[in-house]
Amino acid sequence: MIELAGVSKVFDGKRKVVALENLDLVIGRGEMVAIVGPSGSGKSTLLNLIGGLDRPSQGEIRIDGSALGGLSDDELTRLRRDKIGFVFQFFNLLPTLSCLENVALPLHLRGWPRKKIDERARALLDLVQLGNRLDHTPEELSGGERQRVAIARALSIYPPILLADEPTGNLDTRTGAEILKLVHDVHDRLGATVLIVTHDATVAHSCPRTLTLCDGHIAGDERR
Ligand SMILES: Nc1ncnc2c1ncn2[C@@H]1O[C@H](COP(=O)(O)OP(=O)(O)OP(=O)(O)O)[C@@H](O)[C@H]1O
Ligand SMILES: [Mg+2]
Repeated sequence: MIELAGVSKVFDGKRKVVALENLDLVIGRGEMVAIVGPSGSGKSTLLNLIGGLDRPSQGEIRIDGSALGGLSDDELTRLRRDKIGFVFQFFNLLPTLSCLENVALPLHLRGWPRKKIDERARALLDLVQLGNRLDHTPEELSGGERQRVAIARALSIYPPILLADEPTGNLDTRTGAEILKLVHDVHDRLGATVLIVTHDATVAHSCPRTLTLCDGHIAGDERR
């Protein structure tokens, strides 16, 4: 379960930006939620806070009962590593590593034995239909293929929480549909809690719950 209470995020740059203001939100275990809203409304900020990549200016975030604010940076890193799979729009793959090595990395960080890592990474790349691209580096792949590697990497640890920021954003319709199916599979098969930021109405409509952000506020929370 993910709980936010009175969460605000203020960016104090040259000009002060209130990216999120006093958000209250509860997302149950195993929910699949689309997060929509205009550009600049705070969607990525929200995902980054929930994923422990950034800390709120005010308020509290709890994941399965543990308050992120009470965790040290090391503890937060561990929580991310053990519980959260991230898929970003711009992939964040390591350019010098092959597909196989990119997918294997989170498992190495968790200290899995080498043979198990290799098996799991290969199985995931098969799942995203890239079993024939194991030794390619990200720059030798198309955008859709990179996004599929990023999803395979995010899934490597069987994350109970999957956070995806416009995972279909710069893909053609067909590849986007394939990625969406993959995310739904993860949800259905692993029972993962999935939060998916999207500008795509098809993606949003495929989720049982849609959260609309506007100017850092929750402007809508609909269930189908
Ligand atoms: N690191 C930062 N420093 C200063 N301001 C920031 C920073 N990150 C985000 N912002 C500001 O916070 C607001 C919310 O940004 P955010 O990235 O969450 O929007 P978004 O809803 O994800 O938009 P998009 O759909 O364009 O990705 C924006 O006005 C943005 O300019
Ligand atoms: Mg964004």
